[in-house]
Amino acid sequence: MTRKIKVMSVFGTRPEAIKMAPLVLELKRRPEFESLLCVTAQHREMLDSVLDIFKISADYDLNIMQPRQTLSTITSKVLLGLEDVFEKAKPDIVLVHGDTSTTFSAALAAYYAKIKVGHVEAGLRTYDKYSPFPEEMNRRLVGSIADLHFCPTENNRNNLLRENIKNGVYITGNTVIDAMKYTVSDKVDLSLIKDVDFEREKVVVVTCHRRENYGKPMEQIFSALKRLAETNEDIQIVYPVHLSPVVHETAQRILGGISRIKLIPPLDAEQMHTLMSRCYMVMTDSGGIQEEAPALGKPVLVMRRETERPEAVEAGTVRLVGVDEKAIFDSAQELLHDLDSYERMAKAVNPYGDGSACCRIADAIAWDFGLKDAPPRDFEPEKK
Ligand code: UD1
Ligand code: UDP
Repeated sequence: MTRKIKVMSVFGTRPEAIKMAPLVLELKRRPEFESLLCVTAQHREMLDSVLDIFKISADYDLNIMQPRQTLSTITSKVLLGLEDVFEKAKPDIVLVHGDTSTTFSAALAAYYAKIKVGHVEAGLRTYDKYSPFPEEMNRRLVGSIADLHFCPTENNRNNLLRENIKNGVYITGNTVIDAMKYTVSDKVDLSLIKDVDFEREKVVVVTCHRRENYGKPMEQIFSALKRLAETNEDIQIVYPVHLSPVVHETAQRILGGISRIKLIPPLDAEQMHTLMSRCYMVMTDSGGIQEEAPALGKPVLVMRRETERPEAVEAGTVRLVGVDEKAIFDSAQELLHDLDSYERMAKAVNPYGDGSACCRIADAIAWDFGLKDAPPRDFEPEKK
C-alpha cells in the first residue's frame, strides 16, 4: 500500500474533544490514515474527562491551561507549542474544530508550517464579531486559512459561499450526533445528582459560560433562574457549573444555597447527554447543547443575543431569549406552564446530522489525497 496519510487532530477544550473524539476513532479505524492527536489542554480536567470516556489518548500534550487565562496567553502558548510538535510529527494535514482560541491558533500554526488544514464544524456565523466573543472571529479567520471545510449544514456552506470560499467544502453533518451514539445510554448512572425525581419533578438543565456573558448578562441570567426556583415548587434546576473561576464565583454568589437549584461540578459527557435525554427542558448559552438537546426532543431556551445555529430555531425546538432577566423568566414560565407551547417545542428534530459525519469527513480527506474515486455525498437532513 502507498504511504499512510498522516492526519493530526488538534484540540483543547471540552466541546472540541466531544465532537472530535468520534472522528479520531474513525481515522484510527481506517488503514489509509495514521491518526495522531495533539491536545493543547486549554481545558484540563474537562478535556481529560472526555478522553477517558472515549478511551483515546494524546500523542502530544501542550498542557497550557492556567487559571483565568487570557485570550493572548492561550493563543501564543498554542502557537509556540505547535511549532515544535509539527516539526517533529510532520503531519500531512491538521484537523481543527470549531471556534476556540485553540482552533484559531492551531490553524495559524499549521499555515505557518505550510501544512494543509481541515476545519471541522466550518461555516457557522452570526456576523457580529463580538457575539459570540471571540468565537465569531476565530471561526472566520480559520475559514480563511483552511483548505478543507467540513460544514454541518447547507446553511453553513452558504455562509462560506458568501465569503467566496468555494473549494474543498463538504456538507457532512455535525460530529456531535456521532458522539451521542457513544454517550447517551440508559445504563449511565445519574445517582450522583442527588434528590432529583425525574418522574415527579420538572428537571431543568442549565449551563452558562460564555465570555460575552461575563458580568451583568450572567447576573441577569442567574437572577432569572433564582426567581424560577422560588416561583415553581415542582422544578429542580440542575446546573453543572463550568470550572472557570469567573463563572463559579458568580454562580455561587447568586445561586448558592437556594433550594431547588443544584450547583454541581461538570458532568462527564455520558452523564450530561443522558441527563439531557431525561430532563424536561434546557436553558443554556452553550453552542453544542443547542445541537444536542433538539436531537433528544428537549426544548432549549438559548440565553444569548444571537445564535450561529438557526436551524433548530427554524424547526421550532430552540428559542433565542436573550440575556434580560424578565425575558428569560417569562419564556421559561411559559414552557413550564403552557403545555401546548411545551409540546410544540418538545419534538425531536435533527437538522445537524445523521451520525455519519465522521465517515464523510474521513472519506473527504481520502478523496482530497487521491485515495478515493469520488467525494462523499452531502449530508441531507430528513425531510418533514
Ligand atoms: C473556552 C472557549 C469557548 C468554548 C468553551 C467551552 C476560547 C476563547 N473559549 O471557553 O469558545 O465555548 O471553552 O467550554 O477558546 N478551567 C479549569 N479546568 C478546566 C477548564 C477550564 O480550571 O478543565 C478554568 C481555568 O481557570 C481557565 C478558565 O476555566 O482559565 C477558562 O477557560 P478558557 O478555556 O479560557 O475559557 P472558557 O470559558 O472555558
Ligand atoms: N457538557 C458536559 N458536561 C457538562 C456540561 C456540558 O459534558 O457539565 C457538554 C455538553 O453536552 C456539550 C459540550 O459539553 O457536548 C458543550 O460544551 P460547552 O457548553 O462548554 O461549550 P460550547 O459548546 O458552548 O462551545
